Amino acid sequence: MKQSRRNFIKSLSVTGLLAPLATPLLAKNTAVSLNTFVVPALDRGVRNGNNVTFKLAVQAGKTSFFQGLDTPTIGINQSYLGPVLRAKRGDTVNIQVNNGLNEVTTLHWHGMTLPANMDGGPHQTIQPKQTWLSRFKIRQEAATLWYHSHAMHKTGPQVYHGLAGMFIIDDEGSDKLGLPNDYGVDDIPCIIQDRRFNQDATLSYMSSMPDRMMGMQGSIVLVNGVVTPTLVAKESLIRLRLHNGSNARTYNFAFSDGRPFHVIASDCGFLHKPFQTNKVRLAAAERVEILIDLSDKKEVILQSIPSANGGMMPMMQMNNKTLTIMKIDARQAQTSTRKIPNVLRNSKIDLNPKVVTTTRSFSLEMGMGGMMGGMMNRMGGGNRGGMFRINGKSMDIKRIDFQVKANSTEVWEVSNSSMMAHPFHVHNVQFRILDRNGKRPHPSESGLKDVVLVPPGEAVRIIMKFPEYSDAKIPYMYHCHILEHEDQGMMGQFVVV
Ligand code: C2O
Ligand code: CU
Ligand code: CU
Repeated sequence: MKQSRRNFIKSLSVTGLLAPLATPLLAKNTAVSLNTFVVPALDRGVRNGNNVTFKLAVQAGKTSFFQGLDTPTIGINQSYLGPVLRAKRGDTVNIQVNNGLNEVTTLHWHGMTLPANMDGGPHQTIQPKQTWLSRFKIRQEAATLWYHSHAMHKTGPQVYHGLAGMFIIDDEGSDKLGLPNDYGVDDIPCIIQDRRFNQDATLSYMSSMPDRMMGMQGSIVLVNGVVTPTLVAKESLIRLRLHNGSNARTYNFAFSDGRPFHVIASDCGFLHKPFQTNKVRLAAAERVEILIDLSDKKEVILQSIPSANGGMMPMMQMNNKTLTIMKIDARQAQTSTRKIPNVLRNSKIDLNPKVVTTTRSFSLEMGMGGMMGGMMNRMGGGNRGGMFRINGKSMDIKRIDFQVKANSTEVWEVSNSSMMAHPFHVHNVQFRILDRNGKRPHPSESGLKDVVLVPPGEAVRIIMKFPEYSDAKIPYMYHCHILEHEDQGMMGQFVVV
């Protein structure tokens, strides 16, 4: 059934799409669309013992987010986003990535421990029509990771148009916990992305100064590429793998009725035990797994609620509205036989501050470069003094910022001297947060992570052990995961030797 153009404009206004043109309607921005929840295709590859081969085709396409209208997008093996890749600890994966775009791309395995030349960062470019083979052994524990474009200066627009997907790792332990693990039935991937559309349904990207400063934010929320969908729950205990796949936005997830839920995993693995709460903050690129009890068989809305400390610039109150993420309809749910385990991991995370050999400091900076920055620029100091910097420097693909010793344990102190929060990410490692301004981290982020949100004025200390992979030439990245900040220079490179 085709919707008339006029009705389309109307429905967009209700969901806030044409916000600037329809301010009076914004107050009623609670409408949940009838869109059906889509479970992404599951790709377990072609298995030959412990060798698993995946074939991924990056391609341009058209996607209907709104009835009767097509949006130009990018996907992997489909028009928007990619399949959920799934493999086991101990597997060796062989991933063939073909670039069907007219521009350079890369595919980065976010959260994965692997050799630098297999990482899919800005150095592993794939030219149009070329195929890149990434091969590595999965040696880390069960977790919800993801993959996305990491092309130099193009990560933001490529991911915004859909170049991303989820990567699930299983292990012996995760199979035995008795958690909901029936894919798409009671174990449900949710890639959450906010987007802004033009009136012709094309994606609007970097059209204003705030976009450049804050990163791309929009008032339309997609879950697995569907606008505010409704998930019909089949079981009364479900596990959501919540992945913030947005370019910039931080969410503060909560249910419309305030019901409690359990956080069971953070970015790179299970927490020690389930943590009960009624809200959880998730910055760009972060993941949490949660268990929700739906045995009251009601309908409930997953929202992002205003946060006391969104860490955003005061003049840009982007996080002060309630956003509808998706609706969960549990009226038909069967009573689940699953139980919430008391303990999720038997051993403590093995990251010992006593064996730390090196401590490094990173200062996240934005705005005019200051006097030093400006002077260095004029004196030919390269990329110093750009708008987005770490320790005074903007990313330069020819500059290696430091060397790390393989197998060593380091503490990094990341501080933020700017006026907005930045999600800081490190490639190749899983870290633990030691403290935030000297205080212990929130229980929901007490597990293994690869992204940490650093609010203005905070100093966060993280501890990590670098694996044995070494390569004196090819670096790994560390950067802000607001993709527009990364593209504009808030990124650096290190080699492991
Ligand atoms: Cu999610 Cu450097 O990336
Ligand atoms: Cu990464
Ligand atoms: Cu940033």
